[in-house]
Amino acid sequence: MLDFVIHLAQKAGNYLKENIGSDLNVELKGRINPVTRVDKASQDIIFETISREFPDHAVIAEEGLQKETGSEYTWYVDPLDGTVNYMHQIPIFCVSIGVFKEGEPYIGVCFNPVSGELFYSQRGSGAFQNGERIRVSSTSRLIDALVVTGFPYNKDMHDGSIVRFTRILSEVQGIRRLGSAALDLCYVARGSFDGFWEVGLSSWDIAAGVAIVLEAGGFVTDFSGKPMDLESGNILAANGIIHAGLLRLM
Ligand code: IPD
Ligand code: CA
Ligand code: CA
Repeated sequence: MLDFVIHLAQKAGNYLKENIGSDLNVELKGRINPVTRVDKASQDIIFETISREFPDHAVIAEEGLQKETGSEYTWYVDPLDGTVNYMHQIPIFCVSIGVFKEGEPYIGVCFNPVSGELFYSQRGSGAFQNGERIRVSSTSRLIDALVVTGFPYNKDMHDGSIVRFTRILSEVQGIRRLGSAALDLCYVARGSFDGFWEVGLSSWDIAAGVAIVLEAGGFVTDFSGKPMDLESGNILAANGIIHAGLLRLM
């Protein structure tokens, strides 16, 4: 199954890459939340392929394709995470596919077709990037930590985000904002970032990344320290040493 998910992410990712710079037919799902014809076509590739191979599995994909079947397997599909970057030809985006089994992370795959970075994990087998085992960092002091965040499309949530951002900025080495929550999580799993937080995310943004961070030895919770619930949307992922310090600042 992991091989299947990897091939699927690569197939959709290669489609994204081939269409960089093409006419995108951008529509808005809210005031600033864009969707392009490429997001939808990537979703179609993934949804059709899953439905053919695993017809009884449940699927939740960002651009409206959903299927509830009562299966123990649920697929969370973000066919293009980092749409704004993609529209601006900034090569920080990926295909993100997470499979949960009985409500728990099972498989996670994120693929950036421009850099070729392929992150994947299967429960109990560790996390990998392009064949190499990856682990979260061992940074132990907040002041040495490089962390990453994102800002939700919903501008009503920005006041809280800015308060948190300012508070954390004064305690860490630095903060980045890359524009792909799925890749943010993979970079925590790889130890490039020591932590990641964001409010108001959706299950498809984080399912794969959460699976990968957990297999890389990281901690993932909501802002009250409870184990991450995909529906809560508020996520804090970090290495197990500085997670408590970041949680205090949430
Ligand atoms: C977005 C990206 C971004 C995050 C937003 C997400 P999309 O997903 O992950 O980094 O800050 O909250 O919605 O719209 O590009 O799939
Ligand atoms: Ca997303
Ligand atoms: Ca998306």
